[in-house]
Amino acid sequence: MPNGTFKIITIVGARPQFIKAASVSRAIAAKGNFEEILIHTGQHYDDNMSDIFFRELEIKTPAYNLAMGGGGHGQMTGRMLEGLEAIYLKEKPDAVLVYGDTNSTLAGALAAVKLHIPIAHVEAGLRSFNRKMPEEINRILSDQLSELLFCPTSESIKNLKDEGMRSGIHHVGDVMHDATLHAIRKIQGSTEVLEKYDIGDVPYAFCTLHRAENTDDPGRFKSLLSFLEEEAKTRKIIFSVHPRTRKLMHAGGLSLTGVQMIDPVGYFELHSLLHHSTLVITDSGGVQKEAYFHRTPCITMRDETEWVETIHSGWNRLWTTPDWTGDRGRITDYGNGDAASKIVEIMHTHFNA
Ligand code: UD1
Ligand code: UDP
Repeated sequence: MPNGTFKIITIVGARPQFIKAASVSRAIAAKGNFEEILIHTGQHYDDNMSDIFFRELEIKTPAYNLAMGGGGHGQMTGRMLEGLEAIYLKEKPDAVLVYGDTNSTLAGALAAVKLHIPIAHVEAGLRSFNRKMPEEINRILSDQLSELLFCPTSESIKNLKDEGMRSGIHHVGDVMHDATLHAIRKIQGSTEVLEKYDIGDVPYAFCTLHRAENTDDPGRFKSLLSFLEEEAKTRKIIFSVHPRTRKLMHAGGLSLTGVQMIDPVGYFELHSLLHHSTLVITDSGGVQKEAYFHRTPCITMRDETEWVETIHSGWNRLWTTPDWTGDRGRITDYGNGDAASKIVEIMHTHFNA
């Protein structure tokens, strides 16, 4: 579309999406041919789960904030659908850009497809093959609805092809890698976190745990907390506690002996903590890869992972396996920090923007 008038609406709502969108929005602004309107669904709303990322990553203030966090899946997704449809009708975007696998992703895509607005999905094709995960349902449906599928890995390309999808599929690399390179430039040489969290020069593991599949089943949740307590007997553990996890620990009267629990940290502190750690223990999609980006071995507290290359390269293992496998190698799939600019170039060509 000539004259730089191509209008894209970007949907974000949860912590990982602010980080992913920051890289792409920067590339969109640099390209200049697009008008980008940012919508925050409000799925995450605490300062340390939302605003801090806007400040640190210099993301523009959303044009709309639907303030639709909390509630069950149906209620949250339904309210988002209604709110987004009204904005799409008013703004008349030429395309909608969605990220990852949250309820905000699915609502953004579903509201768009019903109005015949083309959708581009960043982080397409990931599969755990575990349909009990809300994220798996959100991914499968969002991929089905999307015209452009931006895949981070060769495995994600294969997954889409196995599902019979053929067009609009592009291996662009991982926008989280782009974001990590940006963070590493910012934190270079910084040791502030070591004083702030009273770490000194003691080796430590950095931990996060928040997946519904892990926290919402009380038996499984307790097993995972026991696993952490066992690990804490041999090393210091710093645990950044997601609000879902804190609430469920509180509701279940659960505690963790020997583990240093801290509030969620900002993006630059997160990278400093990962950088200085000797081990990562997590169920987060993003943190598994970030451990690799800092070349820190990772134990994933899940029974499967979508990021299979982290396992194949020897840097990651599931908590159900006793050891890492093979020599530690390099992962080339995630690209060279240019995933966001590739996405923008492909959109430019595809939409004739
Ligand atoms: C969501 C995503 C998950 C992603 C995660 C990233 C879905 C289905 N899940 O999970 O894929 O990995 O975000 O962090 O979309 N809460 C607060 N303050 C906040 C945000 C949440 O207190 O700022 C509490 C609320 O009690 C809320 C609960 O956490 O009900 C869960 O939040 P929700 O957004 O539903 O799911 P997440 O576990 O954050
Ligand atoms: N993160 C952060 N502070 C924290 C924990 C995580 O900045 O205390 C960042 C980290 O970069 C991670 C991203 O938030 O990759 C998203 O993490 P989360 O685990 O919430 O979501 P997931 O990747 O599992 O969907």
